[in-house]
Amino acid sequence: MNEHILVCVAWPYAKSSTHVGQIVGAYLPADTFARYHRLAGNNVLMVSGSDEHGTPILVDSEREGIDPREFVARYHRQICEVWDRLGMSWDLFTETGTENHYRITQDFFLTLHDKGYIFKDTMESPYCPTDHRFLPDRYVEGTCPHCGYTQARGDQCDNCGRTLDPVDLISPRCRLCGSKESALEIRLTEHFFLDLPKLQEPLQQWLSEGKDFWRPNTMGFVMNWLKEGLRARAITRDLDWGVPIPIDGYESKRIYVWFDAVIGYFSASVEWAERQGTPEAWKTWWVPDQTTPPVKSYYFIGKDNIPFHAIIWPAMLMGYGNRNLPYDVPANEFMTMSGQKASSSRGNVIWTKDVLDQYSADALRYYLSVTAPEGRDTDFTYEELVRRNNDELVATYGNAVHRTLTFLQSKFNGIVPEPLALREADREILAEVERGFALVGHNIANCHFKEGINVAMSVARAANRYLDEQAPWKQIKLDRAEAGTSIYVMLQVLSGLRIMFWPYLPFSSEKLHHYLGFEGDATTAHWRPTSVPAGAHLPAPTPLFPKLEEAAVVL
Ligand code: MF3
Ligand code: ZN
Repeated sequence: MNEHILVCVAWPYAKSSTHVGQIVGAYLPADTFARYHRLAGNNVLMVSGSDEHGTPILVDSEREGIDPREFVARYHRQICEVWDRLGMSWDLFTETGTENHYRITQDFFLTLHDKGYIFKDTMESPYCPTDHRFLPDRYVEGTCPHCGYTQARGDQCDNCGRTLDPVDLISPRCRLCGSKESALEIRLTEHFFLDLPKLQEPLQQWLSEGKDFWRPNTMGFVMNWLKEGLRARAITRDLDWGVPIPIDGYESKRIYVWFDAVIGYFSASVEWAERQGTPEAWKTWWVPDQTTPPVKSYYFIGKDNIPFHAIIWPAMLMGYGNRNLPYDVPANEFMTMSGQKASSSRGNVIWTKDVLDQYSADALRYYLSVTAPEGRDTDFTYEELVRRNNDELVATYGNAVHRTLTFLQSKFNGIVPEPLALREADREILAEVERGFALVGHNIANCHFKEGINVAMSVARAANRYLDEQAPWKQIKLDRAEAGTSIYVMLQVLSGLRIMFWPYLPFSSEKLHHYLGFEGDATTAHWRPTSVPAGAHLPAPTPLFPKLEEAAVVL
């Protein structure tokens, strides 16, 4: 039975190009997952977009002195360029600045309001008399009341991961003018709140029913939050940048960026449906019980986004009613850069586009897949990227491919030989490929991407062993047909590897696809061995992966 797999991926802020920490945290696993499910014959919708509102954007565009609209357009363009170069197979990558997104966000707001899940209240907010404005979220910085981290932002502490209220900060200071606590005032301001306590019960119920396959770190985080008891959260801000509040009298305020951003998953699905000329098609993905089996929605995010995706967004969907809830939230840990936490102020952020200027997309995709921070933090170094490329992509997978294809050219004029009856060793390696499909598929479907690519590489290793043992370059001196059989079998193995690596390494798989004489591209392939027929004439190959010189850039 075909499944429906909705792949939702965290929306990057349109305030910089993307860095490798984001790629390994959310985008690469999501793309691998989506590509696999398409090959496995499932229906996939993968959506995301640029997150264009909120104080992160405003603070930076104001610092540069340019209009936030112009600012986000620039970075949205840069983000999309990287997606092309990296091979992200989006069904839609949009932005939160669209008219569609505004309309749907306002509908969410009003519906939750009318159903009693949003209420009005006054709250205290830091106010800077120098700048004559309230200081929501990132306009204020200070010490985290939970862990003592001194660079905590008004909305979240990057050290302990807790979400914060600006008035919770110890020794707050204004990010705009640097004014310290003594100069800041606390003023009252009226806002709308999401009544999370009202939804605590149903959330707890939902999480306790069959979510035992969630990653332990994610579950631990969520359970902690629930144990502390949910608090109502302000979902509007004193800002003039963002989605307007659809209720009269609040013209000087906007909907909070996190409230609108998570709705993006839904609004992007509506936009996708409209763009492809089937405006009702979003319902398949979002209205419960439209398909058998039910849609599974996956949310690929970094661990700092857990509360918004595993608690607040599900709560919003429950309150709204009649919408599919997340199935899994495979959140990743962090990747440090040469042992240090990536931070633009430290200057050790590695921009994806800089890596891609120097290395192929598959070299990067491979390295990030084998070092993914799935259960614990991991570390990025250029030396390791180069070593993994040379030892594994070049010396193992690439070597199996190149030895086979060049031998076919030199001894068989590129024509796939007719095999004799298969020998024990032939059957064994072909069985290894079959097992590889089952295992790699199982691992990807369960979001164990690292294990999946390791299994695929172990099949490539077995292929090299088979080739060494058969040694067709020796066989051919005694019996040409024996050598022909070995090469025939190797071509079938490579055909399997081409598919098995496809979700991870689409560019080299595409290349191999053509070297093995197949037409078209991945959309025509399936998650199973496909044979290369005897008699086919294969083109002359070039190496699948170039060997890399020692890392030129060192952090
Ligand atoms: N822009 C946020 C970040 O980079 C992620 C938002 S994911 C969302 O941390 F979809 F919820 F918006
Ligand atoms: Zn100030």
